[in-house]
Amino acid sequence: MRPTLYIEDIFQGKRQENDIVTLKGWVYNSRASGKVKFLQLRDGTATIQGVLFPGDSSDAALEAFGKATQESSVEVQGKIVKAPKAPGGWELQVKELKILGESVNYPISPKEHGPDFLLNNRHVWIRSKRQHAILRIRSEIVAAAREFFDNQGFVGFDAPIFTPAACEGTTNLFEVNYFDDDKAYLTQSGQLYGEAGAMAFGKAYVFGPTFRAEKSKTRRHLTEFWMLEPEVAFMDLEGNMELAEDMICHIVQRVLRTRRPELEALERDISKLEKIKKPFPRLHYNEAAAILEKESKDGFKKGMDFGGGDETILTEKFETPIFVHRFPKAIKAFYMKEDPEDPVSALCVDMLAPEGYGEVIGGGQREENIETLVRKIKEHGLDQNVFEWYLDLRRFGSVPHGGFGMGVERCTAWLCGTAHVRECIPFPRMLNRLSP
Ligand code: 4AD
Ligand code: MG
Repeated sequence: MRPTLYIEDIFQGKRQENDIVTLKGWVYNSRASGKVKFLQLRDGTATIQGVLFPGDSSDAALEAFGKATQESSVEVQGKIVKAPKAPGGWELQVKELKILGESVNYPISPKEHGPDFLLNNRHVWIRSKRQHAILRIRSEIVAAAREFFDNQGFVGFDAPIFTPAACEGTTNLFEVNYFDDDKAYLTQSGQLYGEAGAMAFGKAYVFGPTFRAEKSKTRRHLTEFWMLEPEVAFMDLEGNMELAEDMICHIVQRVLRTRRPELEALERDISKLEKIKKPFPRLHYNEAAAILEKESKDGFKKGMDFGGGDETILTEKFETPIFVHRFPKAIKAFYMKEDPEDPVSALCVDMLAPEGYGEVIGGGQREENIETLVRKIKEHGLDQNVFEWYLDLRRFGSVPHGGFGMGVERCTAWLCGTAHVRECIPFPRMLNRLSP
């Protein structure tokens, strides 16, 4: 058996006024005003107001109302009528109300709770309006990104989580025992495997969880996060930026179209999202560095990577995301291609989101020359043996290629306007948090 009717179906006009319906869900809230009793019923798709009135509602229903505490599960039967002032524009005149599962001392009430308390109760906090809206938008972002790539003939190409080697440097690797005396690392990025996918399929995208042993406690860092990583053969740095801006515009448009109620529930300034149109400005790292040497509050010097405050300074000057390209290769991963016109730079690019949300995308063109790549692996102190399969991609028909990775939680935080990425994944993993 499956539910045949959801509250959302009523709001979408799939039932008619005065229809008798049965709904199953949970009590979001209840209150009495004299003889009239109100019950906010949520079923996960939406919330509808139920009204109980002596005479219209059965005696059993009126009695059950007294036990319908916050988050009790219930079955409700009644007549639906249009009610322009009620949320969703409909109201349920309750005839029958049955408690299915009681809820005693539900921990989260409308009063203010501290972030630690809420995170400890994450398994139920996600039922609250704000968290509910954020996670629906996250789901929409993922669906929109997949739709974007699927519609262009990309192959979804899943990369392994247990890996023998580091993709993004060795400082934040999670090491695990892998039988007997073998060590494995949790993947930091599916990119290297995505490159194999691009050589097999021309265009591929990896989507999966990635892991970084980040010792930092910032509002942008998780130890486990999800990344979408397209990789395309014969694509250069400029092609990479075009693909990234097209993808972001597609995601933003779809979220604006389908998730407006959620954005409104979050009190997001939607006009800011409506300004996201391509082309996004492209700044050479040297241009960005010149601005920051004047304006940085964190002592930025040319050659350094940007801090969060530096990214905010750069993005405050624009209404759309910006690209910063050609960072110094010294601060970037081994696989980045050197700029043939300026060998201190790498052909890489970060996309920084407006309103201080910072880096949402990182990527670039990959080194396709085997000698250079072997030298870079050595310079980065990595073990060439575990990269032999990756070097094969250069031995057997090497071509220029590139791609990028978008952090799903960073993108969600930006579109939702939330301060911290920890609210942008169902169960965040951070330096001091491994539960629930
Ligand atoms: O810039 P990053 O480290 O790039 C890569 O991993 C490349 N291999 C991707 C590629 O080219 N295929 O990470 C990419 C994105 C960042 O821009 C950010 O959005 C997100 O992943 N990210 C994190 N999100 C949350 N917590 C963290 N600790 C993150 N580290 C990176
Ligand atoms: Mg990066």
